[in-house]
Amino acid sequence: MNDLVIKTENLTKIYGEQKAVKSVNLHVKKGRIYGLLGRNGAGKTTIMKMILGLTSITSGEVQVFGKNIKGQEKRIYPRIGAIIETPGFYPNLTGTENLEIFAKLRGTSRPDAVKNALDVVGLPYRDKKLFSKYSLGMKQRLGIANAIMHDPELLILDEPINGLDPIGIAEIRKFLQDLSKERGKTILISSHILSEIDLLADDIGIIHEGNLLEESSMDELRKKNQKYVLFRVSSTVTAARILEQKCGGVNYLIEDDNVMRVYDTDIDLSRINQEFITNNIGVYESRVCDESLEDYFKEITGGVGIA
Ligand SMILES: Nc1ncnc2c1ncn2[C@@H]1O[C@H](COP(=O)(O)OP(=O)(O)O)[C@@H](O)[C@H]1O
Ligand SMILES: [Mg+2]
Repeated sequence: MNDLVIKTENLTKIYGEQKAVKSVNLHVKKGRIYGLLGRNGAGKTTIMKMILGLTSITSGEVQVFGKNIKGQEKRIYPRIGAIIETPGFYPNLTGTENLEIFAKLRGTSRPDAVKNALDVVGLPYRDKKLFSKYSLGMKQRLGIANAIMHDPELLILDEPINGLDPIGIAEIRKFLQDLSKERGKTILISSHILSEIDLLADDIGIIHEGNLLEESSMDELRKKNQKYVLFRVSSTVTAARILEQKCGGVNYLIEDDNVMRVYDTDIDLSRINQEFITNNIGVYESRVCDESLEDYFKEITGGVGIA
């Protein structure tokens, strides 16, 4: 398929004894925002570094823009903008001066490249503030400005919103979405924050202990998430017994002593309520819920949730 901007085949990284990335097959489509979601240590940065040629590939391969990156670095990398770890900005220069240096090093030819990039991220052009005086949010923005300065087709951003305040996060989200929707850019972004990927990404890859456990569009994932009725009751043990006896075959899950889920949402809720009350179970709450992405993440990683 040639609408894939990044494709990896059995991409694997072993550090010493440790397999950090295990046979990962990633598919990033043109013009989409792909969110790579995983806890700290899952392997996100290592995958991005291999795609960018910043660390060697133990086995497998990476194709970018339809070509194996091996031997094609000079053609491929100018078309990518990336933030992997903090870029080495000079503390005693201003943001503009820093970008001008990077623009020269990269041979960016457009004269207004620095100004445009600063505009996009909402930082002032030619102001006097030194990089050392920047807030964390401003530093992150400058990093993004640096990554987009040469108008790349593909952005690879490793946890770019770490340390930003909520307003800064919302602004960056908005301009990443604009870059993708209005200017057709492809974005691969990593995060350990589930809600962030939920709000931003079109497609998602869930990485856990080096394995890509799931890859799908967010739309598909949302469809997969089941609806259920949440019951808050005086005793879930007793309630479960009543369900088994009176409404046999109902699919349910006990969350704790007081909260349970009933997955068949088309069953007669008033009847369940009635049965509970008749059997002296206090019903404090019953409402239809959507299984969240967080539940899904827990389910497929077989453990506790993520931020
Ligand atoms: N340079 C390195 N040398 C040895 N182990 C590493 C190195 N970089 C990362 N790792 C290990 O590889 C695993 C994946 O790390 P990383 O890709 O940084 O995860 P993430 O970005 O998802 O937090 C971790 O267990 C980490 O400790
Ligand atoms: Mg990382």
